[in-house]
Amino acid sequence: MAIYHMGPLAMDESFIYTFFPLLAAILLLIYIKSKEANEAPKEPEASPTYSLWNPDRKRSETSTSSFFQEPITALGDEVDVLSMPPHPFRPYKPVYHMTMGLEKCAPNDLFLIDSSYPSRIALRKQVVNEFPHISLGASERCGPAVKELYTYILSQHLPSRFPKLFTTSSVDREFKNHVSGDSYPLTPPQNSIDALKILATTVEEDILILQKESGRETYSLQGFIACFPNGFDSSKKMGMELREIHGPVPMFEEKLATSMDRFFGRLEVGKWVKRMNWTISTHEKLFLPTGNHHYEGEELPEELEFVDLEKTYLRVERQVLLRLPVSRDMVFFVKTYMTPLARIKKEGQGEALATAIDGVPEKLGVYKRRIVWGKAVKDALRA
Ligand code: HEM
Repeated sequence: MAIYHMGPLAMDESFIYTFFPLLAAILLLIYIKSKEANEAPKEPEASPTYSLWNPDRKRSETSTSSFFQEPITALGDEVDVLSMPPHPFRPYKPVYHMTMGLEKCAPNDLFLIDSSYPSRIALRKQVVNEFPHISLGASERCGPAVKELYTYILSQHLPSRFPKLFTTSSVDREFKNHVSGDSYPLTPPQNSIDALKILATTVEEDILILQKESGRETYSLQGFIACFPNGFDSSKKMGMELREIHGPVPMFEEKLATSMDRFFGRLEVGKWVKRMNWTISTHEKLFLPTGNHHYEGEELPEELEFVDLEKTYLRVERQVLLRLPVSRDMVFFVKTYMTPLARIKKEGQGEALATAIDGVPEKLGVYKRRIVWGKAVKDALRA
């Protein structure tokens, strides 16, 4: 038997063959356990057979589904959202940084209803009837996503959050909008455009549905409600991937394209996020399939010498992004806020907005047509 001499210590061979493998096994076990303890617990995946709607549910009960990890709570009887002014979002900063700018969105805050709701819904009805092909679109493959969304919004979200404004009847299997007086079936129409038309005239938010391209890590536009597009025609963006959709946006490719694709690939069911976009609009039109942006090769109109702050607006988009639990498609909601610059000035925000206009990088400023309105708007805000 070999004896190993290590200074004052001496070990025989059988001890070495038993002790060291045992020590290695113990150390490996400790390492695995500590790694497990340090890892964040994994979100449970949504069940593919989640219950969409229980018609016998009492109104006051909170409603949860695998759409989100927090319950929807009903607004109390004392809250009259229709008498509340639109939320004064003022997202501009002294210097504009092109970032994803995403924050967590509570499920209760998916739809923000305020005093503009009745007039906006009336306008949306006009738009979908006059411009059906520009305001509504759906590819064949997004049918299941449209049905999933329709059922969630009409059967679950709206009646749970705003029980004074929207109710459902299990007898008639109907959704009732008590503001507009409209009733719709709880079962989604077979035709996706019919379903989108109902959604378009029930909520103020425009809705874009994106699906993963098979074999690629990218998402493309497969369905839309675009009653208030800010200068683009969604029907022309159908089938395009996010990168291509944002092609006209300066700095997008360098600053955002890769992180956005990655984010879309990773966003989990139940993790809703929101972000804001802002620009200046020299008119009050909400349905704008062209204009408000400058594209390469286009001629710019003359620089404005004067603007009327009552008729020039801060146009803010509040955007919410989520993944549908069953189809796993992505949905992007956009609510548009228009605030006359006269009000911004009255709030004492004139200088802050003028500074923010200067803080928009040159190329993005051209895209936003700052050359046309920039000086006149800043002069008026600072006067
Ligand atoms: C969360 C991710 C997103 C980010 C960070 C983002 C960012 C932006 C930015 C910075 C602009 C320029 C707007 C301006 O300053 O006036 C823009 C424009 C635009 N975005 Fe997004 N966006 C996102 C998601 C989406 C999605 C999901 C769609 C769906 C189709 C979309 C469609 C558009 C369109 C159509 C434009 C106008 C492009 C044009 O002028 O033709 N965006 N986006």
